[in-house]
Amino acid sequence: MNETLRIISRRRSTKNFLPDLPDEAAVRAVVEAGRSAPSAMGRQARLFVVVQNRHLLEELNVAVKEVAADREEEFYRRIGNLKDYNVFYGAPVLVIVAGDRHKPMIEADCAAANQNMLIAAESLDLGACWINFTLFAFYGPRAEEIRRKLSIPSDYNIYCSVAVGRKAIDRLEKKTVSGNEVRFFE
Ligand SMILES: Cc1cc2nc3c(=O)[nH]c(=O)nc-3n(C[C@H](O)[C@H](O)[C@H](O)COP(=O)(O)O)c2cc1C
Repeated sequence: MNETLRIISRRRSTKNFLPDLPDEAAVRAVVEAGRSAPSAMGRQARLFVVVQNRHLLEELNVAVKEVAADREEEFYRRIGNLKDYNVFYGAPVLVIVAGDRHKPMIEADCAAANQNMLIAAESLDLGACWINFTLFAFYGPRAEEIRRKLSIPSDYNIYCSVAVGRKAIDRLEKKTVSGNEVRFFE
């Protein structure tokens, strides 16, 4: 196995972060990895919103939980009502990936960028977690205000996000992948 494959197989979602900001250079390197992901027809119509302000992070956390608490599904309602639950697990950085909603295949473009950032974070020994809960903040009653605060244009939808920070607990146990069937035709 080479180093890239080792990093990909070692990566686990971090769900417990230290509160302090990682090196700025490391955060920038993670975002650059997202920017360099492929995009359909090479359109590069993504917008990376890097939130490091803890008041804004808390505002997003509250907005997500408000929407979750109002959902029909018991799973979301339960999380929305957990007082101490932080949807970003206390990460000091959240990279929101938005994309021009008029561009075909923009969801896939954004997902590719998100995954690149997860791998880049692991390569720098940072923790990261893909957080799609963030999207809830952009459906709810606070959506417009949050968009405005983060300067996200109305033509851009939010497709995914990644929480980044230093790992509070390194999940060293190896992941067993039992699903994800593979079929070769030769
Ligand atoms: C599309 C997508 C959305 C996800 N959204 C969330 C989320 O909102 N909150 C969360 O805690 N984890 C989220 N995850 C992370 C998964 O929980 C995690 O990848 C899964 O449990 C497997 O663990 P691993 O990443 O350590 O392999 C998401 C993952 C993906 C691919």
